Amino acid sequence: MHDFEAFIAKRFSALLPYPGKTSDAMAYSLLNHGGKRVRPKLVIDTVASYGIDPSISYDLAMAVECIHTYSLIHDDLPCMDDDTLRRGVPTNHVIYGPDNATLAGDGLNTLAFEVIATSTVLNDHQKVAATSTLARMANGMVYGQCIDLASEHTQIDAQTLLKLHQYKTGCLLSAALMLGGIASSHDEDLSALENIGYDLGIAFQFQDDIFDVTKDEVTLGKNNSDVRNEKSTSVSLFGLTKAKTMMQDYYDHALDLVETTLHLADPKPLQDFIHALIKRDH
Ligand code: IPE
Ligand code: IPE
Ligand code: MG
Ligand code: MG
Ligand code: MG
Repeated sequence: MHDFEAFIAKRFSALLPYPGKTSDAMAYSLLNHGGKRVRPKLVIDTVASYGIDPSISYDLAMAVECIHTYSLIHDDLPCMDDDTLRRGVPTNHVIYGPDNATLAGDGLNTLAFEVIATSTVLNDHQKVAATSTLARMANGMVYGQCIDLASEHTQIDAQTLLKLHQYKTGCLLSAALMLGGIASSHDEDLSALENIGYDLGIAFQFQDDIFDVTKDEVTLGKNNSDVRNEKSTSVSLFGLTKAKTMMQDYYDHALDLVETTLHLADPKPLQDFIHALIKRDH
């Protein structure tokens, strides 16, 4: 991922000629205090599983990380989850103010699509497919956040919770897998990749909900605020024990789908990626 970090720093400064507080705020969350890079790794490992040189997918890996970063900056705002700690440092709005943090999210949202449009390694078909896929999935994430807010201070049913997780978290993981398929010219696998992302997203969000009540803020590098916000989560609905079993079932199902529904050269990079997610501690 060392190559990828250098790549995004260079692309960011080439594309953003606007000095000032908002671009500092964008760099703070995208570059200076990046997270686990789950979605870029997923793009890259998908391409590796198709047997293609992953560096052709760096623009797409950066694009989905821009959307993810914007979603977290906005997720932390006082009008949303109202959190002050992210990735072990103060949240974007604590440093730059809610005004610049809002603009930083807006800027990253648009930057994602500029990175795709100006790629020098993707062909026009890949650019159009990536743009429409990422736009659809980013809007799905927004829909998930909308359900998340509407589910505060109330009891929702299991079907609604799974939908909330599928959209707010699954959509961007589906996007990452699909962008990997597009970069590899395996468009015939796009709907199978989308489905794997939904299982992975539900599992990943179950794990995030579980960590929110089982790990401390230092380990997580972020606030555990689900109880304070009276969120509907996998733990509040199913309890810890059942949430853990269901999380493993969703990861196992994603592993099955990788094995049986894709036309890969070698499933190992994607399988290793999923095993690393299962073992993650934050
Ligand atoms: C956090 O995502 C938000 C969820 C969808 C649970 P990550 O856990 O991937 O966050 P970073 O990018 O590593 O900080
Ligand atoms: C956020 O879910 C998901 C998105 C930003 C789309 P959470 O609110 O659970 O994420 P954390 O726990 O703050 O990282
Ligand atoms: Mg949230
Ligand atoms: Mg949050
Ligand atoms: Mg959470």
